[in-house]
Amino acid sequence: MENPVYDPAYFDAPTLYEAKRLMFPGDPEKFEERWNGDTAFLRDMLIRELQPKVGDLLLDYGCGIGRIAREMCLLGCNVIGVESSAVCRRYAVEYVNQPGHFLAVSPEEFDLLNRKGLKCDLGCAFWTLQHCAAPAADIERISRGLKTLSRLLIANARSRRMVPVRTAEGKSELFDDHVDLWQLLGLHFGLHNTITYPYGLGLKPEEYLLRGYCKTI
Ligand SMILES: C[S@@+](CC[C@H](N)C(=O)[O-])C[C@H]1O[C@@H](n2cnc3c(N)ncnc32)[C@H](O)[C@@H]1O
Repeated sequence: MENPVYDPAYFDAPTLYEAKRLMFPGDPEKFEERWNGDTAFLRDMLIRELQPKVGDLLLDYGCGIGRIAREMCLLGCNVIGVESSAVCRRYAVEYVNQPGHFLAVSPEEFDLLNRKGLKCDLGCAFWTLQHCAAPAADIERISRGLKTLSRLLIANARSRRMVPVRTAEGKSELFDDHVDLWQLLGLHFGLHNTITYPYGLGLKPEEYLLRGYCKTI
């Protein structure tokens, strides 16, 4: 593809339902099952790997419409969702519906809070870094936003990047720039665990995985 240009509006879906569908395109009949299965799996892995406690502050990086934030608020956590799409931030506040326990902010707003001393107890970034335009900067932001020895859980494609771009012809596409996210993450975090994505949830285990990290620097 010649001269692809990053498309920041890719996740600005016109309705909450369309924002959900962007996550799992394909057969609409299977959508609810895939959404529920993936959400429950990620929630369970987060509980197992990060062992959140009531009152902990979770950084949900690229929170989308807040499906994981909602699950974690229901378990008694506080969540700060960092989300580059203002449209998704609005959906997230509505979907999570936990005033006083959930906050959706832009990356720049998170940087401001962080400069003023905010650090989170644990973090997750599910299906986000694979879409970021400049993931090294996002990984640095996540690292700065976590306390030392915090745990972090990441879900991503194993090797494919899917950066939303506009082609020279104005077509919207997902572009693989071959940036190695796992190598970038390894510069900031110690690898704790690798979790194979299970069969039966609609994503191929050979294409996707989760990794648990610990912030050691
Ligand atoms: C595939 S969605 C995943 C949403 C959510 N993590 C989930 O699992 O439901 C990716 C999200 O990352 C957001 N995103 C992309 N680049 C980002 C960045 N640099 N910083 C924060 N959010 C970003 C997108 O707007 C989108 O909402």
